[in-house]
Amino acid sequence: MIKFESKSNKILEVDEDHIVVFDDFRNVSLKEEADLIFADPPFGINFRGNHLTYHRTPDALSYVEVPREEYPRFIRELVEWCYKALKPTGSMWLLSGWNNLRHVLDAVEDVGFIQLNHIIWKYQFGVFTRRRFVTSHYHLLLLVKDKKNYTFNKPEHYPEDVWIIKRTYHHNEETAGNELPDNLVERCIITSSNPGDLVVDPVLGSGTTMRVCLRLNRRCLGIEINSLLEKRIREKLRVWLEQKCMID
Ligand SMILES: C[S@@+](CC[C@H](N)C(=O)[O-])C[C@H]1O[C@@H](n2cnc3c(N)ncnc32)[C@H](O)[C@@H]1O
Repeated sequence: MIKFESKSNKILEVDEDHIVVFDDFRNVSLKEEADLIFADPPFGINFRGNHLTYHRTPDALSYVEVPREEYPRFIRELVEWCYKALKPTGSMWLLSGWNNLRHVLDAVEDVGFIQLNHIIWKYQFGVFTRRRFVTSHYHLLLLVKDKKNYTFNKPEHYPEDVWIIKRTYHHNEETAGNELPDNLVERCIITSSNPGDLVVDPVLGSGTTMRVCLRLNRRCLGIEINSLLEKRIREKLRVWLEQKCMID
C-alpha cells in the first residue's frame, strides 16, 4: 500500500500499489520515500499571448498551465517537493522545453540535485513556423542525490544522449494536451528503477507514467491537479480497471 497524505477526496485506485490523487502536488505529502520521480511539468509558455486559455476552466482534455511570470517559483517548488520526496539513492527524470530551461536548471542546482545527463529527445510533428525553425526537441534531465549510489540499468552497450522517438499519432482519439509516448517514459523508468520500486509522477497528466508502471511492474503514485482528466486516465488504464472490476 502506498502511504501518502492529501486532503483531496478524489482518488482513483487501480489497486493498492497504483493510485491517482487529484490534487495540487504541493498539498500532497509522501509517507514513503520514492525510488524514482518522473515529472513532465507544464511548459509555462503562451500565457501573455493567450489569456483566454489561462482563464478558461480546464476541461477533460486540457491541462493546467502556469503563467510565465510564476514559472520560476512554480518550478522551484516542484523541484524542492521532489527532492524531499525522494530516497537518498533515488533518481529523478525532469522534462522541459527550451523556453524556460534556464529556470529549470537553476532550480535543480539550487535544490542540490546532481545532473547525470541532459538528454535531447528529438520528435516529429513540431508546430509549423514561417520565420523561425520548427521546435522538434525536448530536454530530459536525469538527476540524482548521490552520484555514487543510484540505479542505472544500462539500456544498451553504448547509450547516447540524443534519443529519436516518434510521437504517437492518435487516429480518431481525443487526447489530453502533450501526452508523452509510452516508449519514451518506458526507457526512463526501466533505466532508473527496478520491479517493485515506487515511482511518483507529481504532474501526471493523462496517466502515461501510470500505464507504463503497470506494464513494468513498478508501484506508482500519480498526482494531477485537473480532476476532469480522470476521463482520459480511465481510458488509458482501461485494461487494468476492467481487471479490477472482475476481481471486485
Ligand atoms: C505536460 S502535462 C503532463 C503530461 C503527461 N506526461 C502525459 O503523458 O500525459 C503536465 C500536467 O501537470 C498538471 N499540473 C499543473 N499544475 C499542477 C500542480 N500544481 N499539481 C499537480 N498537477 C499539475 C497539468 O494539469 C498537466 O496535466
